[in-house]
Amino acid sequence: MVPSPSPSARTATRPAFARWMGTTNQVTRTFLSAGAIPGLINLGGGLPDPKIFPTGRLAEFARRAVAEHPGEALGYGPIEGLAPLRDAIARRFSSAALPLTRANVLVTTSGMQGLDLIGKVLLDEGGLIAGQFPTYLGALDAWRPRAPSFRNLVLDAPGFDPQEALAGAQFAYAVPNFSNPTGRLVDLATRRALVAAAHRTGTWLVEDDPYGTLHYDGATLPRLIELSAQAAPGEPYAGPVIYMGTLSKEIAPGLRVGWIVAAPEMIEALTLAKQGSDLCTSGVTQRVALAAIETGLVDEIQPALVALYRSRRDALCAALATHLCDWFDWEVPVGGMFVWALARDPALDTDALLPHALAAGICYSPSSVFDATGANRRGMRLNFTLNPPERLDEGMRRLATAVAACRGGRQVA
Ligand SMILES: Cc1ncc(COP(=O)(O)O)c(C=O)c1O
Repeated sequence: MVPSPSPSARTATRPAFARWMGTTNQVTRTFLSAGAIPGLINLGGGLPDPKIFPTGRLAEFARRAVAEHPGEALGYGPIEGLAPLRDAIARRFSSAALPLTRANVLVTTSGMQGLDLIGKVLLDEGGLIAGQFPTYLGALDAWRPRAPSFRNLVLDAPGFDPQEALAGAQFAYAVPNFSNPTGRLVDLATRRALVAAAHRTGTWLVEDDPYGTLHYDGATLPRLIELSAQAAPGEPYAGPVIYMGTLSKEIAPGLRVGWIVAAPEMIEALTLAKQGSDLCTSGVTQRVALAAIETGLVDEIQPALVALYRSRRDALCAALATHLCDWFDWEVPVGGMFVWALARDPALDTDALLPHALAAGICYSPSSVFDATGANRRGMRLNFTLNPPERLDEGMRRLATAVAACRGGRQVA
């Protein structure tokens, strides 16, 4: 018998397979499993501090979900999510201008599934996405299977023209509150201009908002969906904004519960896409999420979360000033989970620095992974929420050692 080629050899030349195997973005994988590397200081991910998870309350909610709602919690459920949870989310985001009902809400298996479903529903092969730049790496991952092209939107660049920016795009994508990776807040004028352009051009506008409640200085700004509703205040929402939220940063990412709020026709399409994805989000964690919202837990823990993370932001910025001010510039973020630092010397390549950093016991996300082309190699995203101040200081000390090793051209052992 003629020996058959191995399955991987047979698959290797197929575009779909090659698209994944060819990706150089192993960063998410590294930081999600970094806990297993002894001693590593992990500033790579958007990771909340597990010490602040409200474990007692969540355990009680989970126990009650199974004991009191066994069919709902442990059986299959409606694709669009449990009705009381959809109602609670609709109430949470409703206002006089934006009266929402459950027809506006899809429960997702967290924010990442929302991004995936949006790509499935809105993106054709090779289609154009107008995305805030630098772009959340998980969104790039979610949309990679359709090999999209990207128009990079620098929302705070002088002369930014939203109408031009959105023209011809299959959808636009932004994280207006404390963007991942930069931590920047999109100002009100730009929010209004983006929404107006989406209405004028008929372009779907994805508003991804995991960090909205994590604001450390000053007030928050209206959501894009709220501004969009002002075009037809008080009427059922039928506008172009697709709003995405999650409990990952406010409560715990292990729940894997998020939501999409949008026009009913969009919710319908996304629901059908979810059917082909996971049928339904876990009933246990949906019940826990419902209890966390309805008992007020989500709102109760927010001040403690903000106080803790604000102090850690300050600690990381102080550590950068102590150890790395000759090498990097950074912005003090007004919210979110990250400091975005840019090398002063354009020759300092943060992809090349990463192996030295890992060898020194510190992990970050290089700027290349927030760029669909991978070309942006001068920056890094540093998380400040997972580690206490002394670890953040030690992390920056290690990073300075790594910069010296990288600049000295030393090989990583
Ligand atoms: C901008 C953005 N969107 C979506 C997500 C997805 O989060 P999750 O799937 O945990 O809800 C994240 C997580 O870091 C994020 O930063």
